[in-house]
Amino acid sequence: AKEPVRVLVTGAAGQIGYALVPMIARGVMLGPDQPVILHMLDIPPAAEALNGVKMELIDAAFPLLKGVVATTDVVEACTGVNIAVMVGGFPRKEGMERKDVMSKNVSIYKAQASALEKHAAANCKVLVVANPANTNALILKEFAPSIPEKNITCLTRLDHNRALGQVSERLNVQVSDVKNVIIWGNHSSSQYPDVNHATVKTPSGEKPVRELVKDDAWLNGEFITTVQQRGAAIIKARKLSSALSAASSACDHIRDWVLGTPEGTWVSMGVYSDGSYNVPAGLIYSFPVNCRNGEWTIVQELGIDAFSRKKLDATAAELSEEKALAYSCLS
Ligand code: NAI
Repeated sequence: AKEPVRVLVTGAAGQIGYALVPMIARGVMLGPDQPVILHMLDIPPAAEALNGVKMELIDAAFPLLKGVVATTDVVEACTGVNIAVMVGGFPRKEGMERKDVMSKNVSIYKAQASALEKHAAANCKVLVVANPANTNALILKEFAPSIPEKNITCLTRLDHNRALGQVSERLNVQVSDVKNVIIWGNHSSSQYPDVNHATVKTPSGEKPVRELVKDDAWLNGEFITTVQQRGAAIIKARKLSSALSAASSACDHIRDWVLGTPEGTWVSMGVYSDGSYNVPAGLIYSFPVNCRNGEWTIVQELGIDAFSRKKLDATAAELSEEKALAYSCLS
């Protein structure tokens, strides 16, 4: 039998946490033959709720779940973890300035970076979900210098999956037959959902999405804004943020990272930029990636037309500005 993998979920008493921990315990994240031990962290005001989640995990009698640590102590939470899914954070409240939210989150991620660096298992893989996801991940990377930068990522897979979903709805095809959309940049409304390399499996072979949709105005307009603003549309409808789809996409992100992407398929991940596609190095930016042997690599040499170039640059500019704001909060 396989050794259990320890998976940390921060903010585990929150909405995404509540959707995510049962998926992990059922094997959705790491596969149906991989036992797991869940480490759940939240803050003292949520301690009782967190304990309730632990009770439910016990009650669900998941065969793969070999243990549950539920704690408000960040060191206990981080000790020995192989995978860390960082969902905990400070939400933006009515009347708060962007800088105030940034400041709260940056100090959380700075502190948790140190705890992970000191106490997590060697080669721990980190996924930041909490917003501002890219910049929180960047701060985590900067304050955990001994964790390889390749191990620190943020979630844009939800946006990627939303883009697949929009194409599938529009063409009335199965979502599993659509692939290779790309989310470039920030997990914010400046992100660029790009279909220029996306394809659909049809009875007569793989066809470019652009050829099938035949409506560039939609692809260059409403498609992009729908994906960019889907989070807000869900909040409006549900009065709560998108927890089910965020949790499911977080599982997709880790599963593909650990177990690999299928041949000929890429996914979007927020990763540390090495300057590929002339994106400034030193930002956490969403790129198309392939995963093999537990490592991602940025897909190279995709054509970028003038329309796309502007959008790649605009979302990079927003991330540079967020980075500067984050640093101004720390000094
Ligand atoms: P939520 O407010 O229901 O849960 C957040 C949890 O984090 C709460 O239980 C809170 O007590 C906890 N928390 C706060 N500070 C903490 C700390 N220092 N350490 C540990 N836990 C802490 O929020 P929800 O809906 O679960 O969303 C979580 C985050 O994910 C938000 O920042 C949200 O904006 C973000 N998000 C990101 C998405 C993405 O695609 N990257 C998609 C959807 C949401």
